[in-house]
Amino acid sequence: MLKAVIFDLDGVVTDTAHLHFQAWQSVAATIGIEIDETFNASLKGISRMDSLMRILRHGGKEAAFSADEREALAQVKNALYVDSLSTITAQALLPGIARTLAELRQAEVRIGLASVSLNAPTILHALGLSEAFDFCADASRIARSKPDPEIFLAACRGLGVQPEEAIGIEDAQAGIDAINAAGMASVGIGGGLQRAGLQLASTAQLSWHCLADFWAASRCPQAHR
Ligand code: BG6
Ligand code: MG
Repeated sequence: MLKAVIFDLDGVVTDTAHLHFQAWQSVAATIGIEIDETFNASLKGISRMDSLMRILRHGGKEAAFSADEREALAQVKNALYVDSLSTITAQALLPGIARTLAELRQAEVRIGLASVSLNAPTILHALGLSEAFDFCADASRIARSKPDPEIFLAACRGLGVQPEEAIGIEDAQAGIDAINAAGMASVGIGGGLQRAGLQLASTAQLSWHCLADFWAASRCPQAHR
């Protein structure tokens, strides 16, 4: 039986990718590295420090900074990013999300969040969603970033469900791989994703009906137990 649906945040509930991009772009410029939107897409779902490492590698400067200097760069990026979060309101919810959350609540399916963003609580508050999730995995307690399944497994544990009883929704390849590795059913949002159990072009297509249909089709024997 389907007991829980676990959402990624950035790119699924709201779209903060351009805010991450602006902050990273200005930090990268200070150290002589140029990044564009295409490169930024490869940072989707990647933790702050891992993102910085990818940017340094992209600019051929992987070994140019000490751990303390990298920490300082990540802090500058985060300060810029947090500043830009003041532009986020409930209007920034992606299409179909408010309706799907309400339908899941109505269907008594548990709702979880599995975001690697340490700013997730601030973003949920700005979106007016602080009460919308039954459990949010704490990114600060996660040792291994997506595509490792750790954060999705932590969300399942927090919700009191088995991974086999849950659907995960993601917009990043690393996230789809994490959901699959956790043993959950995966739903991909947007283009360019591989191995998603169900692929949707946008969150506008999400609904309880579509998730229940996907579940019944992919886990038929369990669904009727
Ligand atoms: C993910 C984003 O949700 O959070 C990544 O897709 C980001 O781009 C990561 O790097 C970490 O976010 P934060 O807010 O902890 O820097
Ligand atoms: Mg995402």
